[in-house]
Amino acid sequence: MNITILGVGAIGSLWACYLHNAGHHVSLWSRDTAPSISLSFAQQAPIQFSANQISDMNNADLVIVAVKAWQVEQALLPIIPHLKKGCCVLFTHNGMGAVDPLLAQLSEHPVLFATTTHGALIDNQSKIQHTGQGQTTVGALNERGALLSSQIVPMLDHALAPVSWDDNIQQALWNKLAINCCINPLTAIHNCRNGELAQSETLTLIQALCVEISKVMTAEGLTCDSDALFAKSQQVIQATSANFSSMHQDIQHQRRTEIDYITGYLLQRAKAQQILTPYNQTLYQQIKQKEAQQ
Ligand code: PAF
Repeated sequence: MNITILGVGAIGSLWACYLHNAGHHVSLWSRDTAPSISLSFAQQAPIQFSANQISDMNNADLVIVAVKAWQVEQALLPIIPHLKKGCCVLFTHNGMGAVDPLLAQLSEHPVLFATTTHGALIDNQSKIQHTGQGQTTVGALNERGALLSSQIVPMLDHALAPVSWDDNIQQALWNKLAINCCINPLTAIHNCRNGELAQSETLTLIQALCVEISKVMTAEGLTCDSDALFAKSQQVIQATSANFSSMHQDIQHQRRTEIDYITGYLLQRAKAQQILTPYNQTLYQQIKQKEAQQ
C-alpha cells in the first residue's frame, strides 16, 4: 500500500517504521518542507523516507493522521484537496472532538480512528524507542470507513500486532478518554508519576471524577459504571506506575496540552447534557492556568 503518515512524533514514527518493515511504501508529511526524513529505529540502520511531496499525497491509499488533537484541523485541511478518490484517512490521537469539524469535508473518504496503548518515545539521540508493547483498536467514523474493516485490520495487524476492529469505536474512545480524565491532569498538577496517584487523598478525588464521568457517559448513551471505571483507573495507574503521563510531559516541556480534547471534551458534553461536573471543571482550570504560565 502507499501510506503517508502525517506527523512524525513518537507514535507516527513508530507506525512509519513498522509499516515500512512490513513492505509498504511509506512516506511522511511534517511541519517543515524537507524532501526526505531519516528515522532511526531499534537496532536497524536509519530508514530514509520521502517527505512532504504532493505526489506521495496524491498516490496515498491510506493517510494516517498522527498529530496531537489540537493540531489535527490545521494539519489536515490543506491536504484534503490532494487526496485521491477512495483514500482512507485514519486518525490516531488522545482525546475526542478534534475530527468532528472535518467529517463533512471527508465524506467522500473512508474515515477511521485507531486508539492504541503502545508506548513509544523519541530518545535524546533521536532514536525511536518502542517502550511498551500495547494493542490497537480500529473503528469507523463514517459508513465508507466501516466497509474497509476487512482490508485495514489485517494490513495493520501484519505490521504491528495486535490490531482489532471495534464496531462501537465511540465507546472505546470514551473509555480511553475517561481514563485520561482521571490520570493525566492530576499527574500534571502534582508533578508526579502515574503510580504516585495511588494515595488515599488522590484516590478520593479520582472516585469523585469517576462519578461525574460516568453520569456524562451514561447521558451520552454509552455504558459506564463509576465503580468499574474507578477500578480500571487503578489498574492503569498500577500498570503504568513508573510512567509520566503525556500531559505531565507536555507541561514539563512547556508544550500545549491535550486538556481541551480530554477534560475539555467531557465538560462540553456535560454542559450539553446539563450535568454538573465541578471536580473535572477544577482540574481543567488548573491545567489551563499552568498552560497560561508557560
Ligand atoms: O496519556 C497517557 O499518558 C496515557 O494514555 C496513560 C494511560 C494516562 C498512561 O500514562
